[in-house]
Amino acid sequence: MNTKELVLEALSQAKQNRTAVSGEELAKKCQVSRAAIWKAVDSLRKEGFTIQGTTNGGYILEENNDIVSPALFYSYIKNNYPANDTHDASHKDLHNIKVECFKEIDSTNLYAKKLLAATPRLDKTVIIAEHQTAGRGRLGRTFYSPAKTGIYLSAIYSPANPITNPAKITAFSAVAVCRAIKKLYGIETKIKWINDIFYNDKKICGILTEGFTNFETSLIESAIIGIGINIEENNEAFPEDVKKIAGAIFSKSTDTHITRCELAAEVSVQLYKILEEPSESVFEEYKQLSFLLGKTLTVYPVIGDEKSSYKAKAIDIDENACLVVE
Ligand code: BTN
Repeated sequence: MNTKELVLEALSQAKQNRTAVSGEELAKKCQVSRAAIWKAVDSLRKEGFTIQGTTNGGYILEENNDIVSPALFYSYIKNNYPANDTHDASHKDLHNIKVECFKEIDSTNLYAKKLLAATPRLDKTVIIAEHQTAGRGRLGRTFYSPAKTGIYLSAIYSPANPITNPAKITAFSAVAVCRAIKKLYGIETKIKWINDIFYNDKKICGILTEGFTNFETSLIESAIIGIGINIEENNEAFPEDVKKIAGAIFSKSTDTHITRCELAAEVSVQLYKILEEPSESVFEEYKQLSFLLGKTLTVYPVIGDEKSSYKAKAIDIDENACLVVE
């Protein structure tokens, strides 16, 4: 980490304990001069962070710093998943996640594809954006990705063996997002097969998993798991048809101290952890979280073709993440 990231890490750690950090402490921690610390703080302020200077030369990161940055991402993981945790050896791997953050991007999935094209089999890399100008949804749809009220990320996953069941990755990712939301906000969300997350009967998250195929072997070597979460109600930002179904984790008036970067970090952690878990137990959890099971629904054997559609009852989800209907 560079000085700026180390300073931000120290300030956000201190923020959790509501204390200021002196310039001297920061200089010692980063092994640089006081002047270099002042420069780093100045540069963070220019990036949009609000850092208060105290009369005795200390610094405090204000509460309103809902900015996505690598320093905040790593600091969250280090604080919540320490590498020396004797109960969970996998924490060490989480510290190897690579992250790139953008204020604005066309699509994090598209960017992830470019990274994989340049470095095949790249693993554990997350791209996070505060705003997408060309967010991609399933079936060629647009995914509206307004600034300030949502978070948009793509996680690259390149397992040791080729991917034979992409639907399983999507299903596992949905469970990972539910776990992350439950951990941070204490709320229960539901999964609408296969990749939508609902809260209070409204969609709050969409997942688009895309495969990256080795052209020579035709095998899917990597997955790009794209996740878009509406965190705060922002109905004005959506077109009329989306407004009807779009929800959020909380409303405008809710007072929360959890930043978007923390949510992105927790989702990334849960995601890379769950992909290493045994399938049976995750599928059990998926079924528990599914709100389609037991319901009557309309099945479209051919997407968008009304003529071939029929009513059926959803009775199970099998080990390939397929919905079983009767
Ligand atoms: C859907 O609901 O149709 C899936 C939406 C997936 C949206 C996410 S946001 C981050 C990533 N980048 C994209 O362009 N799309 C995915």
